[in-house]
Amino acid sequence: MEKIIEAKNLTKIYGKKSNKFTALKDIDLSIYKGESVAIVGKSGSGKSTLMHLLALLDKPTKGTVYIDGNDASKLKNRDLNKLRNERFGFVFQQFFMNSNDTVLENVLLPLKIAKKGRKERNRLAKDALKVVDLEAKEENKAINLSGGQKQRVCIARAVVNDPQIIFADEPTGNLDSATGDKITDLLFDLNKNKGVTLIIVTHDEDLAKLCGRIIRVSDGQIISDQTVRKDSHQKASERLEKEAARVKKANREK
Ligand SMILES: Nc1ncnc2c1ncn2[C@@H]1O[C@H](COP(=O)(O)OP(=O)(O)OP(=O)(O)O)[C@@H](O)[C@H]1O
Ligand SMILES: [Mg+2]
Repeated sequence: MEKIIEAKNLTKIYGKKSNKFTALKDIDLSIYKGESVAIVGKSGSGKSTLMHLLALLDKPTKGTVYIDGNDASKLKNRDLNKLRNERFGFVFQQFFMNSNDTVLENVLLPLKIAKKGRKERNRLAKDALKVVDLEAKEENKAINLSGGQKQRVCIARAVVNDPQIIFADEPTGNLDSATGDKITDLLFDLNKNKGVTLIIVTHDEDLAKLCGRIIRVSDGQIISDQTVRKDSHQKASERLEKEAARVKKANREK
């Protein structure tokens, strides 16, 4: 299998002097193309920190991240931005960007950066909004959306530019279970049908179990790393079918 991300001796220390806090200690990790990886662990264990380093959104105090075998710290800012925009999709809540722009404008942004033509941009952005059920909110300002709707805009924006890797920090955290399942299905669909690599931080054991690999983090270290199976999508569909049958039955009984 092709290594897409490799981390060597990753260490992250926040703060200075007496406020120093080591959030990650000497992490070694390889992620292969097409994998679906869950990163789980207690609050404060270092999951988001790890994800930010792997996604090249933050720099390690020590250690190196390689993308396709290339040392990311050697990239010029321009190339780093290009790499992130063209190949990565982010589903991070704190990443929720232009509050005063409309929902559509927010989803169009990565396509504008990628210099896609106007027509294609609009088509792709609208398609992505359809997938997350937000067509009706297209012209609304992002700031006026609910938490879950904002999350869905982030997801539309993350997938709109056909990324090779999706980094998702609690992608279903703010969503009701039906919407969460839909987002889950979307992510695993991309994994299965387009070979998109998924890296998902989650507290949700059910979501973690859908991933082919589960990495457990505790106090800034990896305490276990299990490849469970490779057919994660199939299980996702089975679960969704079950859920759909349950909802149908509940509706009938009403
Ligand atoms: N900018 C920062 N400055 C100082 N400490 C920080 C900073 N960011 C994170 N930390 C600390 O590093 C540790 C790991 O944080 P991180 O956000 O990675 O945890 P997490 O596993 O994602 O937790 P959660 O499940 O609550 O999101 C925590 O103890 C946190 O307080
Ligand atoms: Mg976190």
